Amino acid sequence: MLAFEALRAVDERDAYANLVLPPLLRKAREKGDFDGRDAALATELVYGTLRRQGTYDAVIASCVDRPLREVDPPVLDVLSLGVHQLLGTRIPSHAAVSASVELARVVLGDGRAKFVNAVLRKVAQDDLDGWVQKVAPPYDEDPEDHLAVVHSHPRWVVSALWDSLGGGRAGIERLLEADNERPEVTLVARPGRATPEELLGEEAAVPGRWSPYAVRLAEGGEPGAIEAVREGRAGVQDEGSQLVALALAHAPLDGPDERWLDGCAGPGGKAALLGALAAERGAVLVASEKQPHRAGLVAKALAGNPGPYQVIAADGTRPAWRSGSFDRVLMDVPCTGLGALRRRPEARWRRRPEDLEGFATLQRELLRAALDSVRVGGVVGYATCSPHLAETRVVVEDVLKRRGGGELIDARGLFPGVPELGEGPDVQLWPHLHGTDAMYLALIRRVG
Ligand SMILES: C[S@@+](CC[C@H](N)C(=O)[O-])C[C@H]1O[C@@H](n2cnc3c(N)ncnc32)[C@H](O)[C@@H]1O
Repeated sequence: MLAFEALRAVDERDAYANLVLPPLLRKAREKGDFDGRDAALATELVYGTLRRQGTYDAVIASCVDRPLREVDPPVLDVLSLGVHQLLGTRIPSHAAVSASVELARVVLGDGRAKFVNAVLRKVAQDDLDGWVQKVAPPYDEDPEDHLAVVHSHPRWVVSALWDSLGGGRAGIERLLEADNERPEVTLVARPGRATPEELLGEEAAVPGRWSPYAVRLAEGGEPGAIEAVREGRAGVQDEGSQLVALALAHAPLDGPDERWLDGCAGPGGKAALLGALAAERGAVLVASEKQPHRAGLVAKALAGNPGPYQVIAADGTRPAWRSGSFDRVLMDVPCTGLGALRRRPEARWRRRPEDLEGFATLQRELLRAALDSVRVGGVVGYATCSPHLAETRVVVEDVLKRRGGGELIDARGLFPGVPELGEGPDVQLWPHLHGTDAMYLALIRRVG
C-alpha cells in the first residue's frame, strides 16, 4: 500500500521518490505495526519498480491486449509493483500475485482486481531472463533497443551514454547494470573538522576507494546517526564529487592562491569541502548560488568552516564580482543529471532529449563567466554530473574556441591512484569503473 502511494505520487505529482518515501515511512512507523524490515521492503519495491520500469513495461505490454497508454496509470502502478515482486525479488509467486490482487481490490475495485490477477498470472509463467528473451529485440538487429529493454533505460539515454563511454558491448552493459544498483552511502570527513579515522569508528564503515577524506557505509549504515555528520563536520558526498573538488584544489598554479569561487554552489556539498581545503591554505572561499533558498543550504553546509568564506545569492552568468578576481573557480553547472541515475530511480524516465537544449546556453554562459572571473594564470574547473557529450566536452570545446584565452590542463594527474581515466585531458568518472557517479571535470587555465 505504502509503495503504491509512493509510486502514485511520483507519477501524478512528478515527485521524487527519495523525497516522497521518507515521510510515508515515518507516518507508517508512527502508526505502529511497521518495522525496519517493512521499511526496507517498501523502499526496495519503490526503487526497484521505478528503475526497472522500462523492462517491466515491455513485459506488461506483451500480456495485455491494448497499448499501455490506454491502461489507467494507477492500474499500471499496481501491475508494475506486482511484476517487480514476481521478476525482481525472491517473494514467492503466489504471495506476489495475491498481495497485488488484494491491493488492487482495495484501491481500484473488484473489476480491475480481476484484470490485475489475469495479467500477473501470465507474467508469473516465466522468470526475468525468460521474459527478456521474449520481449527485447535481438542485440544483432538493434543493439540500442535491446540494451534499452534489457537494462531498463530509455533508448536515447543508452545511445548518449554509449557515445560518451565508447567501446563495445561489454562496457556499456556494465555501465547500465551499475545504474540499476543501489549506490553505497559515502561520507566525507571535512578536513580540519573531522578525520576519516573518526568516521571509521562507526559501525559498518570502511575506507573510501579514492578520496583520502571518504568513508563508505555498508548497507544499513545510517549517516543521520553519526555525530560528525549531525554537527556538519562530515557530510554525505559521493566520492566522484570529492575527487572533482580535490582536483580543482590541487591543480598547479603560479602566483597567489588566495581567492576561490564556487559559482554554482547549491546545495553546498563541494563548497563545504572546498571551504575546508581553502582554509588549510589560508584562502577565502566565495560560494555563489542563484536560488536564494539553495544559497541558504550552502550557508548551512559551510557553517563552522575553519577559514573565511562568504555565501552570496547571485546569478553566475552576471558576475557580482570584479573580472579576474579569483585564483580558482569551480563551475559545477546545472545539467541533466544522467550521471547520477543510481540515486534518482525515476530521473531517467523524466528527462527528455529536448532538456539538453535548455541547458546548453546556460552551461556555456556559466563557463564563459567562470573564465572571466578567474585571473590570468588561474584555474577553472568545469564540472557536470552528466557524461552526455553535449554537456561536457562539446561545451568546453565550444567556449574555448569562441572565447579563446583558455588552455586545457591534463586533469588525470590530479586523480591520484584512480584507474581508467581515458585519454584526457578531461576526466570522466563512471559508476561501473570507479563506483562513483558519472562526474565530469575539465580543468582550464586562463591564458588571456
Ligand atoms: C549541479 S548543482 C551544483 C551542486 C553543488 N556544486 C554541490 O556540490 O552541492 C547546480 C546549481 O547551480 C544553480 N544555478 C542554476 N543556474 C545558475 C546561475 N545562473 N547562476 C548560479 N547558479 C545557478 C542551481 O540552482 C544548482 O544549485
